[in-house]
Amino acid sequence: MPYQRDILNISDFDKADFDYILSVARSIAENPSRYGEVAKGKLLATLFFEPSTRTRLSFESAMLRMGGQVLGFSEAGVSSTAKGESPEDTARTVSGYCDIMVVRHPTALVPHRMAKVSDVPIINAGDGSNEHPTQTLTDLVTIYRRFGRLDHLTIGLCGGGKHGRTVHSLIKALSQYPGNHFILIAPEALKMPEDVLELLEERGVGYTVTDDLESSIGQVDILYMTRIQRERFQNPTEYRRLKGVYVLDAEKMKSAKEDMIVLHPLPRVDEINSEVDSDPRAWYFLQTQCGVLARMALIIKQLQLNDQLGDGFLSVHTCDTPAATHSA
Ligand code: CP
Repeated sequence: MPYQRDILNISDFDKADFDYILSVARSIAENPSRYGEVAKGKLLATLFFEPSTRTRLSFESAMLRMGGQVLGFSEAGVSSTAKGESPEDTARTVSGYCDIMVVRHPTALVPHRMAKVSDVPIINAGDGSNEHPTQTLTDLVTIYRRFGRLDHLTIGLCGGGKHGRTVHSLIKALSQYPGNHFILIAPEALKMPEDVLELLEERGVGYTVTDDLESSIGQVDILYMTRIQRERFQNPTEYRRLKGVYVLDAEKMKSAKEDMIVLHPLPRVDEINSEVDSDPRAWYFLQTQCGVLARMALIIKQLQLNDQLGDGFLSVHTCDTPAATHSA
């Protein structure tokens, strides 16, 4: 498995990398004390130029749970960005203060620019409408935990496919596995970008395009709901026209399979009615917990901390192991 210093796009990882993340995440869940000091002496910086709850705090939780330390800022306004500093200069500076940097930015490809001048690994925590690779690692850990596999699944992606960086990254990852089929549920104005559809065609992956959630819900193993993202709209009238177009509620869940799951990267606005939260198929809060495991595994990988865990590390954990121990 070649070492890739920066994780900027989900395509920086292949199936061997995903296997590694799944295995380490599973090992951490089963034996957290083994990892309690693995990052001791290491510093993680979170540079968030756009709001976040889950991504920033789960990265910080991940580092602290491994004995490391954290620093950073949670909005551009409290950094020297407010005085006109470029992202490159921020990266050059902060890379002298930490061992690894996590960056979220409202503009696509800014973390990529910062990685070019950084002396330490950079992890993209979401860049505009482009990608959100660590959300996908979170999603893969969650899906594997539920199904024990990442293949031969029907995945419904419902909401803002056009702006949805989480679903762009998720499609790029899951389309590497055989037998998966995607149902892309979105209004015409928010349909999936052409480059994502072209990738599915290049890989020979089946997909269906529809704007109808009701007629699709009974077919899916995973219903991945997403928010219509107000912050990505230039025109507020267009946002008001589209918001609320899909609302998952208890009535619609009656048509879903008994063994399916509902995921959502969160935050939600009104696209999942809170009455669904008590349905055992609602896995979106468990998904947030899987995010800590996925990010602990990623930090171990990017900082190459596995050497500290000694011989036999992961020798008993492979992703082919039956998933029975992963039931919620
Ligand atoms: N899923 C996700 O990226 O959530 P936050 O915006 O709260 O980080």
